[in-house]
Amino acid sequence: MAVISGTANKPLAQKIVEALGTELLPVETYRFKDGETGIRIKESVRGYEVFVIQPTSPPVNENLMELLIMLDALRRASVAEITVIMPYYGYARQDRKSKPREPITARLVAELIEAAGADRVVAVDLHVPQIQGFFKIPVDNLTAMPLFADYARDALPFLQNAVVASPDVGGVVRANGLAYRLDNRPLVICDKRRTGTNVAEIVHVIGDVADKDVLIVDDIIDTGGSLMKAAKVFKERGAKNIWAFATHGLFSEGAVEAMEESVLERIVVTDTVRSEYSSEKIQVVSVAPLIAEAIRRIRTNQSISALFD
Ligand code: R5P
Repeated sequence: MAVISGTANKPLAQKIVEALGTELLPVETYRFKDGETGIRIKESVRGYEVFVIQPTSPPVNENLMELLIMLDALRRASVAEITVIMPYYGYARQDRKSKPREPITARLVAELIEAAGADRVVAVDLHVPQIQGFFKIPVDNLTAMPLFADYARDALPFLQNAVVASPDVGGVVRANGLAYRLDNRPLVICDKRRTGTNVAEIVHVIGDVADKDVLIVDDIIDTGGSLMKAAKVFKERGAKNIWAFATHGLFSEGAVEAMEESVLERIVVTDTVRSEYSSEKIQVVSVAPLIAEAIRRIRTNQSISALFD
């Protein structure tokens, strides 16, 4: 087998191959003067089972195109099978038509990846699990919730008084995934209404946070608005310590600074997206061992879901 990485998150890819006890196969990525991407796989991969690691994180279009070009290069190099490891799936939030004449870009991306030659996809905390159904090939949707549960158990002295909160109705199943792993802590749900692109308001809260410590769970931190608004509402309703757990820390411009100023005491993310910020409030747990174990299981035809039992 061979593991190759695009340029989106080489540090994560490096950790994955270290956990597997192997090395990344060298790939040359270059730019033409007009901005086009060029790729060359530097060793023969004829007949290989290849794992390609590339989160389609910002710059999303660049990283997606690089992934598609890598897949084409591998197919033309006569590999036997390609598994695409997408720790972050860009465009996942465009998963339905919420208004007339909108695209379903998450589905378009799935079709592009399949057309470029993928045989299987491994993702982590897809925005909605239904994205698996946008592909005809198998998709394994790993989750960081067991990692967050371990972190919470080790770091939080106050778990007995904690509730787990989802900042929107769409995230309830995900939040339940953490609550369930923390001795079934009660769930709190925010009724969030989107008022514009990257803007949302919380209009109701279902559940009680007064005198409770609150662990908010989300899949993505983009502007940080969803988590900060939820935290502010919880604080106004008498919450004590408020922590946030989110799998994909995109932290768009200004998000880290805004979160530093917010009432959130700690923000825990994973390394599905390469981190280029420094903040004492933000802690990173690695998904590399989880992804390495998934690769091992795929290779040996073992259950992936058993990883999460
Ligand atoms: C929304 O449905 C997602 O699950 C996230 O809550 C959202 O995308 C986070 O974005 P932001 O950090 O900009 O609020």
